[in-house]
Amino acid sequence: MFVSVIGAGYVGLVTAVGLSCLGHDVSCFESDSKKLVDLQSGKLTFFEPGLDENLKKQIESNKISFKSEFYQADFDKSQMLIIAIGTPQLENGEPDMNNINSFLQRVCKFSVKEDKVIVLKSTVPIGTGDSIKNNLFPDDKIHVVNNPEFLREGTALGDFFNQNRIIIGCDLNDGYAFEIMEELYYNLKSKSPILRMDRCSAELSKYAANAMIASRISFMNDMSEISEAFGANIDSVRASMGYDDRIGPSYLNPGAGFGGSCFTKDVNALIQLSKKKCVRHPMLSAILDSNYMQKRVPLRKIKKSIGFDLKGKKITILGLAFKPKTDDMRDAPSLVLIHDLIDHNAKITVHDPKAMDNAYSILGNKVNYGDINDYYHSFIGTDAIVLMTEWDEYKCMDVKKIKILCPKAVFIDMRNCMDENEFRKNSIQYIKVG
Ligand code: UGA
Repeated sequence: MFVSVIGAGYVGLVTAVGLSCLGHDVSCFESDSKKLVDLQSGKLTFFEPGLDENLKKQIESNKISFKSEFYQADFDKSQMLIIAIGTPQLENGEPDMNNINSFLQRVCKFSVKEDKVIVLKSTVPIGTGDSIKNNLFPDDKIHVVNNPEFLREGTALGDFFNQNRIIIGCDLNDGYAFEIMEELYYNLKSKSPILRMDRCSAELSKYAANAMIASRISFMNDMSEISEAFGANIDSVRASMGYDDRIGPSYLNPGAGFGGSCFTKDVNALIQLSKKKCVRHPMLSAILDSNYMQKRVPLRKIKKSIGFDLKGKKITILGLAFKPKTDDMRDAPSLVLIHDLIDHNAKITVHDPKAMDNAYSILGNKVNYGDINDYYHSFIGTDAIVLMTEWDEYKCMDVKKIKILCPKAVFIDMRNCMDENEFRKNSIQYIKVG
């Protein structure tokens, strides 16, 4: 099938590469000229495991190509347009639809010779698909579909090939759109159930999934505070909860608060949508309130362990990305801690296996940067080491070295990913969550 993917950001690029690996011919459109030049030569502008190898392979076999402008000729050639343009959060909490709208305003002026399917992959407000169909594409030959993505950064390609469900939101009597979407995902059919529903339900399915997952994390962060107050162990509590079939084990890890480009943005969008319809939403607000507070926990733990006056204190931060296996620092909990520590005039050294360049573009000279190949070096003389992202590199740390390089330092593990016994054996103060 000839498919055009509009937007080569995170979702667009993974989708484009994934679809070309499934055998489709993909043209990917990107308006950022620097990004475009990189992509045309097979270079990625962000880190995502496995994506660069697959991108190069698909370029070499001519299954994927990159262009800047989408013209009538591209429209004529494509059976399907997949819109993967970003919808970042505006100041009022709503998603920014401007780029999607201006693209579709152009496309709706193209002449339509054959049936085309316009697929909204971007996360869009409930009602967007219906409004696009009714206002911009009333022609029967244009079919508007919502097909949300559930890709996680760090495991996105694997998630693409093993989708636990494929949601197709379209007019319920639109057999053409449904069939062509089934054809698009034909090679995934054996693993991924296809769920057919109306467009509004598909749009809400995406928001509801992210809000539900975010609520589990905030709930466990709240439990970790209760656990800490009463001297319980949140890891035991979490493990016991995971055995309950009604709960399940995933996304129950307390930590430094959730980050990334999606959870906060999508919960905020749901809040704004609820307000518009005067619908109650106390749970949604609580998810974000709890997450705001959790992001302040690392500073509280530092102060409690090494004293309230942090002026001149040396703090080493391990992990800057919002999660492991990505260099993405959007909404990262590490940034909240770093800005708090800067306000307290602490001396900060940071380390991350992949996010150091992104960190530099955000923080510049306000912090020191550890040796990327040897994070132990940044431990020399430090007062506290705070682990913010659970990279594998840190989990296999030689704890004995901490005792040698900074004998008095405390170790604050905001991801509960280290072996507490190792710290006890080496007489190092170990502080975890909950
Ligand atoms: C999330 C969803 O998981 C995807 O299904 C969705 O497609 C994506 O948003 C999106 O809307 O595009 P992502 O933000 O890449 O994916 O990463 P997650 O693995 O969900 O982690 C988000 C945050 O939650 C991270 O900061 C992580 O550290 C935190 N987290 C995760 C916890 O604090 N505890 C956990 O148990 C799990």
